[in-house]
Amino acid sequence: MSSANLKDIVVGPDDRLKTECAPIDQIDDGVRKLAKRMLRDMYAADGCGLAAPQVGQLVQMVVIDVDYAGGKKNPYVLINPKVITADGEERQTGEGCLSFPGITVEVARPSHVVVEAQNLDGDLMRYEARDNLLAVCLQHEIDHLHGVTMLDHLSPMARVRAIRDYEEALANGAQPGDVAQQ
Ligand code: NI
Repeated sequence: MSSANLKDIVVGPDDRLKTECAPIDQIDDGVRKLAKRMLRDMYAADGCGLAAPQVGQLVQMVVIDVDYAGGKKNPYVLINPKVITADGEERQTGEGCLSFPGITVEVARPSHVVVEAQNLDGDLMRYEARDNLLAVCLQHEIDHLHGVTMLDHLSPMARVRAIRDYEEALANGAQPGDVAQQ
């Protein structure tokens, strides 16, 4: 794991994690380069998703790979992603975030999601996920493009507890990709 890559990741609290990101209107070399950089950072930190504001770029792009745990890369690049449907029974999942290293929080989200996004070739793609890591990851990453983090989904009390745990983790030197100590 290269520490240079991890330094690229914006760690909260940071205003860039609370900002509405701009749509991408042209998929040019800059956009392709950003996708490459985000994938590099995501894999370096052992994450399953990363949003552009997490590397300080306030544009609507996320990268996701929920299969990497198996050691085989299967990256998705989503440009201007939109949640078309979010329904189904709410499910609670322990979520982490590369921008809040060292903590895991229980977040309830709809279990079924349909997302439309452009890929790097400009084609409109449709992603559907139900009851799995991809369903959670799509919602978590797209939230980042609208200035919303997993902490914003918590009850006031759970949020206070999460922030206290997070400050403690930071004080103990937590880095992006570190998960909670059980
Ligand atoms: Ni995140």
